[in-house]
Amino acid sequence: MAKCISILSILFLSILCHFTPNIAANNVVHFGARGDGRTDSTLPFLRAWMSACSSARPATVYVPRRTFLMKTVTFSGPCRSRIRFQIDGTLVAPNNHRALGNSGFWILFHKVSRLTIYGGTVDARGAGFWACRKNGRNCPAGARSISLIWCNNVLVSGLKSVNSQTMHMAIGHCSNVKIQNVKIIAPSGSPNTDGIHVESSIGVSILDSMIRTGDDCISIGPGSMNLWISRIGCGPGHGISIGSLGNSYNEAGVQNVTVTNSIFTKTQNGVRVKSWARPSGGYARNLHFRNLIMRNVAYPIIIDQKYCPDNVCPRQGSGVKISQVTYRNIKGTSATQAAVKFECSSSNPCRGITLHDIKLTYSNRLFDRPTVAYCSNAMGTHRGSVFPKSCF
Ligand SMILES: *[C@@H]1O[C@H](CO)[C@@H](O)[C@H](O)[C@H]1NC(C)=O
Repeated sequence: MAKCISILSILFLSILCHFTPNIAANNVVHFGARGDGRTDSTLPFLRAWMSACSSARPATVYVPRRTFLMKTVTFSGPCRSRIRFQIDGTLVAPNNHRALGNSGFWILFHKVSRLTIYGGTVDARGAGFWACRKNGRNCPAGARSISLIWCNNVLVSGLKSVNSQTMHMAIGHCSNVKIQNVKIIAPSGSPNTDGIHVESSIGVSILDSMIRTGDDCISIGPGSMNLWISRIGCGPGHGISIGSLGNSYNEAGVQNVTVTNSIFTKTQNGVRVKSWARPSGGYARNLHFRNLIMRNVAYPIIIDQKYCPDNVCPRQGSGVKISQVTYRNIKGTSATQAAVKFECSSSNPCRGITLHDIKLTYSNRLFDRPTVAYCSNAMGTHRGSVFPKSCF
């Protein structure tokens, strides 16, 4: 009987072992990373990555709860199996902003599939770079904190990114990416510190995240398709933007983007589509903005096809064709009277815009004035109750 039980338990254990993936943990400390916040850990991280990436079984790169100094680094794929990048600690960039060089990247994942980045804080210490930009001296190009390029099947969960030099997170040429529970924080005055930038990618979702920066919370560039953005707290910052589009003539379009269940607080824009005023074959269509709350937002609903941030811009009709855009259940306050503004292209008017259940009031209590909707070259319809009164 005893023999029988032990044979059974061995059988059980071997079945258990067989079905539990053998996740080898490559602890960066075992590869020589110091975790004192001062010693350059770039090479040990790369060695841990290469060990995980060459593993035939799912592997983990493990970063324990310490502070690691990282210079510019590229984690390259393709890898042999799934990788989990588990960060319990903090990665910091060197104090001298020039140390990140001119590549435009700080931490780059290149051609990696089946990747999970879990937890962690990344601090690019961008203040030195912003100050350099402000003084206009010959500054380096500036680095994005985390970039994912040519990637598939990626999950980023629980990451915190603070004070990037330029964008906090950039996703390009990827498919099937999920970003959830991230926190992105930079001062409201910091230049071009966009939260998450997506372009040339299909099937990206961004969920349950808090983004406070000096530029767009989320920016969506050409070639973005099937984006799902939900439960975002945005602000301060410039809001969620599609564009700038139409920068070049041969530009991929943007289609099927949904922004829902989100709150914008004291942002410059709420949901914005922007394009340069020049010829282009680009487009933006099937855009859905719904269940949004605006709190003291300067331009809650805006399409701007004469986008010109610094007064030296093209002044032609934008070639970017904007169509099938719905705004539904968007409520709250506008910090300007222009709560709804459609400044569309004279050569390619916006078509198929729907306003459905909108209530945006003027937040300035000193001037008791109504908000207004402004349309230029915009065609559409309204349903339900719409305030400010629709301009279609
Ligand atoms: C639009 O994108 C969503 C994901 O955001 C996807 O589920 C849906 O199938 C897409 N719709 C079309 C028509 O492609």
